[in-house]
Amino acid sequence: MICIKVPATTANLGVGFDCLGMALDIYSYFYFKPSKSLQISGCPTEYQNENNLVYQAYIEAMTELGIKPSPIKLVIKSDIPLERGLGSSSACVVAGVLGAYALAGHPVNQEKALALCTKIEGHPDNVAPALIGGLVASYQGDQILYTSRFPLHSSYKFLVLIPDFRTSTEIARELLPEKIDFTDAVSNQSKLLFATQALTSGDGPLLQEVMTDKLHEPYRKQLIHEVNIVSDLTKQAGALTVLVSGSGPTLLAIAQEKIDIDSLNDQLKELKHQWKCYKVNSDLEGATQC
Ligand code: HSE
Repeated sequence: MICIKVPATTANLGVGFDCLGMALDIYSYFYFKPSKSLQISGCPTEYQNENNLVYQAYIEAMTELGIKPSPIKLVIKSDIPLERGLGSSSACVVAGVLGAYALAGHPVNQEKALALCTKIEGHPDNVAPALIGGLVASYQGDQILYTSRFPLHSSYKFLVLIPDFRTSTEIARELLPEKIDFTDAVSNQSKLLFATQALTSGDGPLLQEVMTDKLHEPYRKQLIHEVNIVSDLTKQAGALTVLVSGSGPTLLAIAQEKIDIDSLNDQLKELKHQWKCYKVNSDLEGATQC
């Protein structure tokens, strides 16, 4: 039996649309075993078949390794909520690829694994931190996928605010405009330069100033019920900034002062939807064989 542990991820971090992401200490565990027929458990019934993303990634990776894929027994134990903007699908993709390497007895080629995960997922900002851990920037060049890991300043604390409803990344991407205003592009690229600086230097006021995105958040907030009230309550509780995690609906809050989570959760209970706030840390290890 092979076990692959993959962290959740929060992509975009405001102004880093499709190029910045961070691994979180919420995990999924994927257990692989060769089997006579495909058997999948630990996920909704609709995914217990050949269309399962872990299985599809496993097939792709085996094919790339030049090995005929054999059926597997796959057991999933996941704490990463589905369709909440916390990288559950990236975790599946990364697990499938690493599971294939492990079952093939092949040492992991990080560069090739990341390129394949990105090809399957469509963008690198979740799979890169899920694979290598930490706060990671990625850029798909003509031939090479570049990644760079930034050391997060230790003063930052992270909270996720997870609602009881889901959003689909596909729909959240369809809402984005085909063209954007030149001034919005300049605003985002300027802020991103300083966002990475603020995240690494611990300059909280700078972080607060530069995390407001103009490329995706304004278009997607319509899918996130009560986003403004949850964001305001979290800021009043001490957060420097509150961002849409990936394509939502989870929100990521970044703070430097200690936030009273119990009191914030009490306030969230008054809302129409069920929101829960949790403290999370950045995972620095990335996906591992366990
Ligand atoms: N960067 C992606 C998006 C992350 O915002 O659509 C979600 O998969």
